[in-house]
Amino acid sequence: MLTLPSPEVVQETALRWKREAKIAFVPTMGCLHEGHLSLVRRAKELAPKVIVSIFVNPLQFGQGEDFEKYPRTLDADAEKLEAEGVDMLFVPTKDDLYPPHFSSRLQVTGLTDSLEGVFRPGHFDGVATVCLKLFQITQSDFAIFGEKDFQQLRVIQQLTADMNLPLLIVGHPTVREQDGLAMSSRNRYLSPEERERAGKLPQVLREIRSTFQTHPEFPIGEILKPARKTLEAAGFKLDYLTIASARDMKPVTDTTLANYIHEPRIFVAGRLGSTRLIDNQSLEEVSS
Ligand code: PAF
Repeated sequence: MLTLPSPEVVQETALRWKREAKIAFVPTMGCLHEGHLSLVRRAKELAPKVIVSIFVNPLQFGQGEDFEKYPRTLDADAEKLEAEGVDMLFVPTKDDLYPPHFSSRLQVTGLTDSLEGVFRPGHFDGVATVCLKLFQITQSDFAIFGEKDFQQLRVIQQLTADMNLPLLIVGHPTVREQDGLAMSSRNRYLSPEERERAGKLPQVLREIRSTFQTHPEFPIGEILKPARKTLEAAGFKLDYLTIASARDMKPVTDTTLANYIHEPRIFVAGRLGSTRLIDNQSLEEVSS
């Protein structure tokens, strides 16, 4: 596996590869777990050349967020990627991607007006900006994003369409722990006791899906009320627990009836202690 820090060298190499092979790309912030590795395996199915980037992007962290303490585990990450047969690991520094006079920001509107866009102002501008740079540098034909950050996936799909980028954005299902908790680099911040309580989150999402499917005549508020109570009783301080259409990411009102929503999805974000967890799930899928 080639490990390269320089955007110029990565782009040169990618342009050379591209003459003969398609390139699939997995952008990450490192601290890799099984969820990331499943994206890498999907990338390998899609193209003969696979590039992974590791970069903790300062532009997408707000004030008081965990940029400084975000776990950095480069050696262990590189070993995992080598074992998966990744062709290139791109590990730029902050100055490599944002030299002193860097002054551009990309903004995707509409899809970012709700959910994470409200609680993390500027977050998606940072994500969109770094992703556009990474796509240009890696010259990728495919980029794979996990559905755990579903709004991010939709924002990147929109950006790609709006900017006529010649690549396909591929969404990949969330990988979960045994109790259903979505895998996340931030799960390691949880104390053992919080980790146990965190299992309530996927449990509640499953219960919502089940009520939603068995009672499509129920107003959404009635479906969500007991779920909020359960999560708060488990110690969650909720930012939101809401149902939105996957098309426009706009939360529906409490009086909307379940069967009136196109591509309904449940979205949740909340804090357990000092750890912020997010999750989402399609409400159309068959229960597992
Ligand atoms: O999902 C992430 O890890 C990040 O938001 C991404 C896509 C690597 C951009 O920094």
